[in-house]
Amino acid sequence: MSIAIVNQKGGVGKTTAALHLALYAAETLRVLVVDMDRQANTTWFFLGDQAPTGFVSSQLFTEAGGGGVEPLQITDKLSIIPADRSGLLGIGEEVSPFPRRHLTAITGFDLIVIDTPPAQGGAQSSALAAARCYLTPIGLDKQSEEGLKGLLLDIRHIRSRFNPRLAHIGILANRFNTRSVHQRKRFQSLLADYGERVLPVALAERAAVSTTYEQRIPVWQGARSGGQWMAGREMREVCKTILGRAFQ
Ligand SMILES: Nc1ncnc2c1ncn2[C@@H]1O[C@H](COP(=O)(O)OP(=O)(O)O)[C@@H](O)[C@H]1O
Ligand SMILES: [Mg+2]
Repeated sequence: MSIAIVNQKGGVGKTTAALHLALYAAETLRVLVVDMDRQANTTWFFLGDQAPTGFVSSQLFTEAGGGGVEPLQITDKLSIIPADRSGLLGIGEEVSPFPRRHLTAITGFDLIVIDTPPAQGGAQSSALAAARCYLTPIGLDKQSEEGLKGLLLDIRHIRSRFNPRLAHIGILANRFNTRSVHQRKRFQSLLADYGERVLPVALAERAAVSTTYEQRIPVWQGARSGGQWMAGREMREVCKTILGRAFQ
């Protein structure tokens, strides 16, 4: 199973979803995280400031795969193919067939989670061409919803040309301000437009999500406030729902 986390907008929670999903899944499954974003936020979360030395994700975009795809093992259940800034700059705009080829050939993992950049381009579309499923996190605002329409159209195109089995896990509403009447309305209109494609669980806007990222720990670890406890519970619920849909 493989899941690409995509949205051409930044700041909607792709990286947040990717790293938590990977950590949650690695409690029971063998998980590989692939960071295809040059900004390398997922890579930083798992590896800190050390520059990646071994196999890096831009090598997935070459035919030979750099002589052999070798993820870096983080724990017994979790490995990573980190992002490299300079290499990913050179991968171009087209859909590359090679990430799909390399990632389908790889063995020893139950789940591959692919984080992607906040822009259309070769990394995003090649990730969609490679994955079995995709998840679209969005914010509850007008621009995000407009962006989502365009994104789903683009994905339909990639699906028909490169990956007919590609399935949508769903739309994850993130940074939900549940006290805002406006945002609650937006969530309702999202449900009206997309029905069951919207995950029934959402992530509220909570400071603990970003503070724990900076500490490089999952938000459910060592809750120090009610807000963090809630954020952790929500995040686990979201991850459980995503895995349930992926493996159904
Ligand atoms: N539900 C949330 N509540 C508070 N902060 C969040 C939430 N989701 C994401 N963030 C923060 O917003 C910033 C952008 O999120 P990120 O996951 O990196 O987005 P993307 O990968 O889509 O660009 C990060 O600092 C992250 O910690
Ligand atoms: Mg990101």
